[in-house]
Amino acid sequence: MTDLLLLPGDGIGPEVTAEVRRVAQALTPDLKLDERPFGGASYDLTGAPLADETLAAAKAARAVLMGAVGGPKWADAPRDKRPEAGLLALRAGMEVFANLRPALCFAPLADASSLKREVVEGLDMMIVRELTGGVYFGQPRFVEDLPGGGRRAVDTQVYTTAEIARVARVAFELARGRRNKVASAEKSNVMESGLLWREVVTELHRRDYADVELTHILADNAAMQIVRDPRQFDVLLTDNLFGDILSDAAAQLTGSLGMLPSAALGAAGKPGLYEPIHGSAPDIAGQGVANPLAAILSFEMALRWSLDRAAEADRLFAAVQRALEKGARTR
Ligand code: IPM
Ligand code: MG
Repeated sequence: MTDLLLLPGDGIGPEVTAEVRRVAQALTPDLKLDERPFGGASYDLTGAPLADETLAAAKAARAVLMGAVGGPKWADAPRDKRPEAGLLALRAGMEVFANLRPALCFAPLADASSLKREVVEGLDMMIVRELTGGVYFGQPRFVEDLPGGGRRAVDTQVYTTAEIARVARVAFELARGRRNKVASAEKSNVMESGLLWREVVTELHRRDYADVELTHILADNAAMQIVRDPRQFDVLLTDNLFGDILSDAAAQLTGSLGMLPSAALGAAGKPGLYEPIHGSAPDIAGQGVANPLAAILSFEMALRWSLDRAAEADRLFAAVQRALEKGARTR
Protein backbone atom coordinates (compact mmCIF):
# COMPACT_ATOMS: atom_id res chain seq x y z
CA MET A 1 0.00 0.00 0.00
CA THR A 2 1.24 3.46 -0.88
CA ASP A 3 1.69 5.65 2.19
CA LEU A 4 2.06 8.92 0.34
CA LEU A 5 1.05 9.59 -3.24
CA LEU A 6 2.80 12.66 -4.66
CA LEU A 7 1.02 14.67 -7.33
CA PRO A 8 3.61 17.29 -8.33
CA GLY A 9 1.35 19.00 -10.87
CA ASP A 10 2.42 22.15 -12.69
CA GLY A 11 4.63 25.21 -12.39
CA ILE A 12 6.58 25.17 -9.13
CA GLY A 13 4.64 22.06 -8.01
CA PRO A 14 7.34 19.60 -9.13
CA GLU A 15 10.11 21.64 -7.42
CA VAL A 16 8.39 21.88 -4.08
CA THR A 17 7.26 18.24 -4.04
CA ALA A 18 10.83 17.17 -4.87
CA GLU A 19 11.84 18.83 -1.60
CA VAL A 20 9.09 16.89 0.21
CA ARG A 21 10.55 13.70 -1.23
CA ARG A 22 13.98 14.62 0.15
CA VAL A 23 12.51 15.37 3.57
CA ALA A 24 10.55 12.11 3.58
CA GLN A 25 13.64 10.13 2.61
CA ALA A 26 15.59 11.65 5.48
CA LEU A 27 12.88 11.65 8.15
CA THR A 28 10.69 8.64 7.36
CA PRO A 29 12.65 6.42 4.94
CA ASP A 30 10.27 3.52 5.56
CA LEU A 31 7.28 5.33 4.05
CA LYS A 32 6.30 4.02 0.65
CA LEU A 33 6.03 6.88 -1.84
CA ASP A 34 4.46 6.90 -5.26
CA GLU A 35 4.03 9.67 -7.83
CA ARG A 36 1.62 10.48 -10.70
CA PRO A 37 1.17 13.34 -13.15
CA PHE A 38 -1.67 15.69 -12.29
CA GLY A 39 -3.26 18.89 -13.58
CA GLY A 40 -1.87 20.37 -16.77
CA ALA A 41 0.98 17.85 -16.79
CA SER A 42 -1.59 15.05 -16.83
CA TYR A 43 -3.70 16.80 -19.46
CA ASP A 44 -0.69 16.98 -21.76
CA LEU A 45 -0.01 13.27 -21.29
CA THR A 46 -3.47 11.73 -21.10
CA GLY A 47 -5.96 14.39 -22.21
CA ALA A 48 -7.43 14.65 -18.69
CA PRO A 49 -6.20 16.68 -15.69
CA LEU A 50 -7.13 13.81 -13.38
CA ALA A 51 -6.80 10.38 -14.97
CA ASP A 52 -9.09 7.63 -13.62
CA GLU A 53 -6.07 5.59 -12.49
CA THR A 54 -4.73 8.59 -10.61
CA LEU A 55 -7.98 9.05 -8.68
CA ALA A 56 -8.02 5.32 -7.94
CA ALA A 57 -4.41 5.50 -6.71
CA ALA A 58 -5.29 8.54 -4.56
CA LYS A 59 -8.20 6.73 -2.91
CA ALA A 60 -6.02 3.68 -2.29
CA ALA A 61 -3.13 5.61 -0.70
CA ARG A 62 -2.99 6.61 2.98
CA ALA A 63 -2.31 10.23 2.08
CA VAL A 64 -1.98 12.35 -1.05
CA LEU A 65 0.27 15.38 -1.39
CA MET A 66 -0.33 17.76 -4.26
CA GLY A 67 2.13 20.44 -5.41
CA ALA A 68 0.16 22.97 -7.46
CA VAL A 69 -1.86 23.02 -10.66
CA GLY A 70 -2.55 25.36 -13.54
CA GLY A 71 -0.82 27.95 -15.67
CA PRO A 72 -1.24 30.08 -18.77
CA LYS A 73 -0.38 27.12 -20.98
CA TRP A 74 -3.79 25.57 -20.28
CA ALA A 75 -5.86 28.75 -20.26
CA ASP A 76 -7.60 27.73 -23.46
CA ALA A 77 -8.19 24.08 -22.58
CA PRO A 78 -11.88 23.14 -22.44
CA ARG A 79 -13.32 24.17 -19.09
CA ASP A 80 -13.83 20.65 -17.79
CA LYS A 81 -10.24 19.74 -18.78
CA ARG A 82 -8.51 22.66 -17.10
CA PRO A 83 -6.04 21.80 -14.36
CA GLU A 84 -8.33 23.42 -11.74
CA ALA A 85 -11.15 21.08 -12.80
CA GLY A 86 -8.81 18.19 -12.01
CA LEU A 87 -8.24 19.57 -8.52
CA LEU A 88 -11.96 19.95 -7.85
CA ALA A 89 -12.56 16.43 -9.18
CA LEU A 90 -9.82 15.10 -6.89
CA ARG A 91 -11.33 16.80 -3.83
CA ALA A 92 -14.81 15.55 -4.71
CA GLY A 93 -13.61 12.07 -5.67
CA MET A 94 -11.67 11.67 -2.42
CA GLU A 95 -14.65 13.15 -0.50
CA VAL A 96 -12.36 15.36 1.55
CA PHE A 97 -14.99 17.73 2.86
CA ALA A 98 -13.04 19.47 5.63
CA ASN A 99 -10.19 21.71 4.59
CA LEU A 100 -7.86 22.78 7.39
CA ARG A 101 -5.95 25.95 6.53
CA PRO A 102 -3.73 27.17 9.35
CA ALA A 103 -2.57 30.77 9.37
CA LEU A 104 0.45 30.79 11.57
CA CYS A 105 2.81 33.70 11.95
CA PHE A 106 6.33 32.46 12.54
CA ALA A 107 8.06 35.01 14.78
CA PRO A 108 11.09 35.55 12.48
CA LEU A 109 8.71 36.43 9.65
CA ALA A 110 6.41 38.85 11.50
CA ASP A 111 7.98 41.82 9.72
CA ALA A 112 7.26 40.26 6.33
CA SER A 113 3.53 40.71 6.87
CA SER A 114 1.82 43.69 5.29
CA LEU A 115 0.23 44.24 8.71
CA LYS A 116 2.05 45.65 11.70
CA ARG A 117 4.07 43.22 13.77
CA GLU A 118 1.96 43.91 16.88
CA VAL A 119 -1.19 42.81 15.01
CA VAL A 120 0.16 39.52 13.64
CA GLU A 121 2.88 38.37 16.00
CA GLY A 122 1.93 35.05 17.57
CA LEU A 123 -1.03 34.57 15.23
CA ASP A 124 -2.25 30.97 15.24
CA MET A 125 -5.64 30.54 13.64
CA MET A 126 -7.14 27.62 11.79
CA ILE A 127 -9.64 28.08 9.02
CA VAL A 128 -11.90 25.09 8.50
CA ARG A 129 -13.29 25.44 5.01
CA GLU A 130 -16.04 23.18 3.67
CA LEU A 131 -14.48 21.76 0.50
CA THR A 132 -16.81 19.51 -1.47
CA GLY A 133 -20.08 21.45 -1.51
CA GLY A 134 -21.54 24.91 -1.90
CA VAL A 135 -21.30 27.00 -5.03
CA TYR A 136 -18.22 25.11 -6.27
CA PHE A 137 -20.34 22.04 -7.00
CA GLY A 138 -23.99 23.13 -6.78
CA GLN A 139 -26.36 22.36 -9.63
CA PRO A 140 -27.70 23.82 -11.80
CA ARG A 141 -24.80 25.73 -13.26
CA PHE A 142 -24.81 26.99 -16.82
CA VAL A 143 -24.54 29.94 -19.17
CA GLU A 144 -27.39 30.52 -21.58
CA ASP A 145 -28.14 32.90 -24.42
CA LEU A 146 -31.05 35.18 -23.81
CA PRO A 147 -33.68 35.55 -26.54
CA GLY A 148 -33.36 39.33 -26.61
CA GLY A 149 -29.55 39.18 -26.75
CA GLY A 150 -27.05 38.97 -23.95
CA ARG A 151 -26.38 35.91 -21.80
CA ARG A 152 -27.24 34.72 -18.33
CA ALA A 153 -24.95 32.70 -16.02
CA VAL A 154 -26.15 30.64 -13.08
CA ASP A 155 -24.22 29.08 -10.19
CA THR A 156 -25.97 27.44 -7.28
CA GLN A 157 -25.03 27.76 -3.63
CA VAL A 158 -26.45 24.69 -1.92
CA TYR A 159 -25.86 22.97 1.42
CA THR A 160 -27.62 20.13 3.20
CA THR A 161 -27.81 19.80 6.97
CA ALA A 162 -25.58 16.72 6.78
CA GLU A 163 -22.88 18.56 4.82
CA ILE A 164 -22.87 21.42 7.31
CA ALA A 165 -22.90 19.21 10.39
CA ARG A 166 -19.97 17.00 9.34
CA VAL A 167 -17.61 19.91 8.69
CA ALA A 168 -18.79 21.76 11.80
CA ARG A 169 -18.00 18.67 13.83
CA VAL A 170 -14.41 18.78 12.55
CA ALA A 171 -14.14 22.43 13.61
CA PHE A 172 -15.46 21.76 17.13
CA GLU A 173 -13.19 18.74 17.59
CA LEU A 174 -10.16 20.75 16.49
CA ALA A 175 -11.04 23.62 18.79
CA ARG A 176 -11.02 21.31 21.79
CA GLY A 177 -7.35 20.58 21.11
CA ARG A 178 -6.58 24.30 20.73
CA ARG A 179 -8.03 27.40 22.47
CA ASN A 180 -11.55 25.94 22.46
CA LYS A 181 -13.14 28.67 20.32
CA VAL A 182 -15.09 28.39 17.06
CA ALA A 183 -16.28 31.35 15.00
CA SER A 184 -18.71 30.29 12.29
CA ALA A 185 -18.89 32.64 9.29
CA GLU A 186 -21.79 32.83 6.82
CA LYS A 187 -24.20 35.35 5.35
CA SER A 188 -27.34 34.37 7.23
CA ASN A 189 -28.56 37.92 6.80
CA VAL A 190 -29.02 37.46 3.03
CA MET A 191 -28.67 33.78 2.10
CA GLU A 192 -30.97 30.84 2.82
CA SER A 193 -27.95 28.53 2.89
CA GLY A 194 -26.35 30.90 5.38
CA LEU A 195 -29.37 30.72 7.65
CA LEU A 196 -29.40 26.92 7.52
CA TRP A 197 -25.65 26.95 8.20
CA ARG A 198 -26.18 29.01 11.35
CA GLU A 199 -29.06 26.82 12.55
CA VAL A 200 -27.19 23.56 12.05
CA VAL A 201 -24.02 24.82 13.73
CA THR A 202 -26.04 26.19 16.66
CA GLU A 203 -27.92 22.92 17.12
CA LEU A 204 -24.80 20.75 16.89
CA HIS A 205 -23.08 23.00 19.39
CA ARG A 206 -25.99 22.80 21.83
CA ARG A 207 -26.19 19.02 21.52
CA ASP A 208 -22.53 17.89 21.46
CA TYR A 209 -20.12 20.78 21.93
CA ALA A 210 -21.56 23.12 24.55
CA ASP A 211 -18.11 23.22 26.21
CA VAL A 212 -16.65 24.99 23.14
CA GLU A 213 -17.09 28.76 22.88
CA LEU A 214 -19.11 29.43 19.71
CA THR A 215 -19.68 32.77 18.01
CA HIS A 216 -21.45 33.48 14.74
CA ILE A 217 -20.02 36.10 12.47
CA LEU A 218 -21.13 37.43 9.11
CA ALA A 219 -18.56 36.59 6.45
CA ASP A 220 -17.96 40.19 5.43
CA ASN A 221 -17.32 41.15 9.03
CA ALA A 222 -15.00 38.14 9.31
CA ALA A 223 -12.96 39.57 6.43
CA MET A 224 -12.68 42.87 8.25
CA GLN A 225 -11.80 41.27 11.59
CA ILE A 226 -9.09 39.16 9.92
CA VAL A 227 -7.22 42.27 8.87
CA ARG A 228 -8.13 44.27 11.99
CA ASP A 229 -7.42 41.85 14.82
CA PRO A 230 -6.73 38.34 13.53
CA ARG A 231 -5.60 36.96 16.87
CA GLN A 232 -9.19 37.00 18.16
CA PHE A 233 -9.74 33.86 16.05
CA ASP A 234 -8.94 30.31 17.04
CA VAL A 235 -10.94 28.09 14.65
CA LEU A 236 -12.85 29.87 11.89
CA LEU A 237 -15.48 27.63 10.31
CA THR A 238 -16.92 28.59 6.95
CA ASP A 239 -18.22 27.37 3.60
CA ASN A 240 -16.36 26.60 0.41
CA LEU A 241 -16.43 30.01 -1.29
CA PHE A 242 -16.05 32.19 1.81
CA GLY A 243 -13.28 29.84 2.94
CA ASP A 244 -11.45 30.29 -0.34
CA ILE A 245 -11.49 34.05 0.06
CA LEU A 246 -10.92 34.33 3.80
CA SER A 247 -8.03 31.87 3.72
CA ASP A 248 -6.14 33.96 1.16
CA ALA A 249 -6.59 37.02 3.34
CA ALA A 250 -5.48 35.12 6.44
CA ALA A 251 -2.49 33.69 4.60
CA GLN A 252 -1.19 37.13 3.72
CA LEU A 253 -1.16 38.04 7.42
CA THR A 254 1.62 35.57 7.92
CA GLY A 255 3.94 37.31 5.51
CA SER A 256 4.03 34.73 2.77
CA LEU A 257 1.65 32.48 0.92
CA GLY A 258 4.75 30.36 0.36
CA MET A 259 4.67 29.26 3.99
CA LEU A 260 1.22 27.84 4.45
CA PRO A 261 0.15 24.21 4.19
CA SER A 262 -3.33 22.74 4.19
CA ALA A 263 -5.00 19.45 4.89
CA ALA A 264 -8.27 18.20 3.45
CA LEU A 265 -9.86 15.43 5.45
CA GLY A 266 -12.79 13.11 4.82
CA ALA A 267 -14.41 10.43 6.91
CA ALA A 268 -12.26 8.75 9.56
CA GLY A 269 -9.85 6.23 8.07
CA LYS A 270 -10.06 7.74 4.57
CA PRO A 271 -6.92 9.26 2.98
CA GLY A 272 -6.34 12.99 3.43
CA LEU A 273 -5.31 15.38 0.68
CA TYR A 274 -2.48 17.76 1.54
CA GLU A 275 -1.64 20.86 -0.48
CA PRO A 276 0.37 24.02 -0.07
CA ILE A 277 -2.00 26.99 -0.26
CA HIS A 278 0.06 28.71 -2.91
CA GLY A 279 -0.51 28.24 -6.61
CA SER A 280 1.73 27.06 -9.43
CA ALA A 281 3.53 30.44 -9.80
CA PRO A 282 4.45 29.89 -13.47
CA ASP A 283 6.45 33.14 -13.49
CA ILE A 284 9.12 31.69 -11.19
CA ALA A 285 8.81 28.00 -12.08
CA GLY A 286 11.99 26.13 -12.94
CA GLN A 287 14.33 28.69 -11.37
CA GLY A 288 14.78 26.93 -8.04
CA VAL A 289 13.62 30.01 -6.11
CA ALA A 290 10.18 28.82 -4.96
CA ASN A 291 9.73 28.46 -1.22
CA PRO A 292 9.20 24.75 -0.48
CA LEU A 293 8.10 25.27 3.12
CA ALA A 294 4.36 25.22 2.41
CA ALA A 295 4.79 21.85 0.73
CA ILE A 296 7.09 20.59 3.49
CA LEU A 297 4.60 21.73 6.14
CA SER A 298 1.84 20.00 4.16
CA PHE A 299 3.87 16.82 4.57
CA GLU A 300 4.07 17.63 8.28
CA MET A 301 0.26 17.75 8.37
CA ALA A 302 0.08 14.45 6.45
CA LEU A 303 2.37 12.82 9.02
CA ARG A 304 0.09 14.08 11.77
CA TRP A 305 -3.39 13.58 10.33
CA SER A 306 -3.09 10.57 8.01
CA LEU A 307 0.14 8.70 8.64
CA ASP A 308 0.08 8.35 12.42
CA ARG A 309 3.54 9.88 12.83
CA ALA A 310 2.98 12.70 15.29
CA ALA A 311 6.51 12.44 16.68
CA GLU A 312 8.10 12.90 13.27
CA ALA A 313 5.64 15.71 12.54
CA ASP A 314 6.79 17.51 15.70
CA ARG A 315 10.43 17.10 14.68
CA LEU A 316 9.74 18.41 11.20
CA PHE A 317 7.84 21.41 12.52
CA ALA A 318 10.68 22.23 14.91
CA ALA A 319 13.19 21.89 12.07
CA VAL A 320 11.24 24.38 9.96
CA GLN A 321 11.16 26.84 12.85
CA ARG A 322 14.89 26.46 13.38
CA ALA A 323 15.61 26.99 9.70
CA LEU A 324 13.60 30.21 9.79
CA GLU A 325 15.31 31.38 12.96
CA LYS A 326 18.67 30.77 11.31
CA GLY A 327 17.55 33.05 8.50
CA ALA A 328 16.59 30.57 5.79
CA ARG A 329 14.70 32.58 3.18
CA THR A 330 13.83 32.33 -0.44
CA ARG A 331 13.81 35.38 -2.64
C1 IPM B 1 -7.62 27.09 -3.45
C2 IPM B 1 -7.64 27.50 -4.90
C3 IPM B 1 -8.63 26.63 -5.65
C4 IPM B 1 -10.00 26.90 -5.07
C5 IPM B 1 -8.61 26.82 -7.18
C6 IPM B 1 -7.24 26.59 -7.77
C7 IPM B 1 -9.63 25.93 -7.86
O1 IPM B 1 -7.91 28.86 -5.00
O2 IPM B 1 -7.32 25.92 -3.17
O3 IPM B 1 -7.87 27.93 -2.59
O4 IPM B 1 -10.69 27.86 -5.48
O5 IPM B 1 -10.42 26.13 -4.20
MG1 MG C 1 -8.00 29.88 -3.16
